[in-house]
Formats: sequence, structure tokens, C-alpha cells
Amino acid sequence: MGLYEKQVLPRILNVACGTKTVEPLRRRVCEGLAGNVVEIGFGSGLNLPFFPAAVTQVAAVEPADLGWKLAGPRLKASSVPVQRSGLDGQSLPLADDSYDAALSTWALCTIPDAAAALREVRRVLKPGGTLHFLEHGLAPDERVRRWQRRLDPLEQRIFGGCHFTRPIVDLLTAAGFTITDLDVFYEKGAPKFAGADSLGTALSP
Ligand SMILES: C[S@@+](CC[C@H](N)C(=O)[O-])C[C@H]1O[C@@H](n2cnc3c(N)ncnc32)[C@H](O)[C@@H]1O
Repeated sequence: MGLYEKQVLPRILNVACGTKTVEPLRRRVCEGLAGNVVEIGFGSGLNLPFFPAAVTQVAAVEPADLGWKLAGPRLKASSVPVQRSGLDGQSLPLADDSYDAALSTWALCTIPDAAAALREVRRVLKPGGTLHFLEHGLAPDERVRRWQRRLDPLEQRIFGGCHFTRPIVDLLTAAGFTITDLDVFYEKGAPKFAGADSLGTALSP
């Protein structure tokens, strides 16, 4: 990680991802989470206020120290115990079959090998565990996809490796998840190329 990724980008993400407009989406994706939860790409803990009371503990996986530091006030305000439990979603230092649920919000766009991260999530989820996801990715419309392909190199450079063009649903099914709930939509207030979201839950067999 360079100086920009370490010292600047986590602050930008904390503001850009922390807008009021996405709070209803965060609330929706966190609905139904319960028990022992692992969150990959925890960032600055913007999902914390939306964890239901049924969540007993959270293992936060996040490489950016500054993201974790910015999460401080939210961690203090949260009644759920959260432990930073790893730095890389592609290689989780967590036991097999040990989590009831997993959460990923706008993280599969950035984790370099999203397929590897999803394999790891499956490994640590108990059989029948669910991954709750809210991700932007490849748009349903070809006209928007063309813009996404054009802008992808710039996006990756500015936003720490973030891609517009990842096919979220295909990645989930290729990793062996069964999608049990899915809403695909363009996020209000965001340009379509950046806000082609998939929100849902996926079951680990
Ligand atoms: C767009 S931000 C989203 C943060 C948070 N999930 C949210 O909803 O606000 C992407 C996050 O993925 C993290 N990330 C990047 N590479 C990662 C990796 N290999 N494993 C886990 N997280 C990673 C970044 O540091 C960043 O916090």
C-alpha cells in the first residue's frame, strides 16, 4: 500500500460511502444477520449501526489501519463486540465452519481476487450460513457496461483497485453459493456506471 492508499483513500471512502442516502441499503443488507458474523472489507465500520441485536460478535477483516481507526467512534457506540480479525479477505486467519453469517458491502469490487475471497467466506461459514451482500458491479445494460469498461482503469487508479465491471452474481454462483434473495438496481443519486448494485443473500451449502 502506498501513502495515498494508507493515508488518504480511507478518509475519502469514509465520507463517500458514509452518506445518508445509502443508509437504507445498509439497513436492508444487515437485516437478518445473527450470531457470529464475519465482515470482509470492514472499512470504517459504516455498517455497524445497522447490525441487528441478534448479532453476537463481528470479526472485521480490513487491510487499512486508517479505516479501522476511523471506525473508532462507531465501535465505541456499538453494543456488538467487534474484533479486527484479519487483513485480507483472500486469506482469512479463521477456522473452517465457524461463522453463522458473513457480510460484504462494496468490497468485492476492490479485493484483488474476489473469487478467492468468496472461497474463503465459504470455508469459514458454517454449512447453511449466509452471505449478505451489497455490491456494485457490471451493469445489466450494455450501454452502461460500455462506460464501465471505459472508466474502469481510472476507477482502479483513484479508488485503490476498485472495479466497475465485476459480475457479482456470477462470482457468487461460481463460488458455490446459492442466491436466495436478490435485488439488482441502479442506486439513486449515483451515476449508473458506478451504482449498478446487487443486494441480497447467498446460502453456503
Ligand atoms: C469501497 S470500500 C467499502 C468499505 C465498507 N465495506 C463500506 O461499505 O463502507 C472497500 C474496502 O475494501 C477494503 N479492501 C481492499 N482490499 C481488501 C482485501 N484484500 N481484503 C479485505 N478488504 C479489502 C478496502 O480497504 C476498503 O475498506
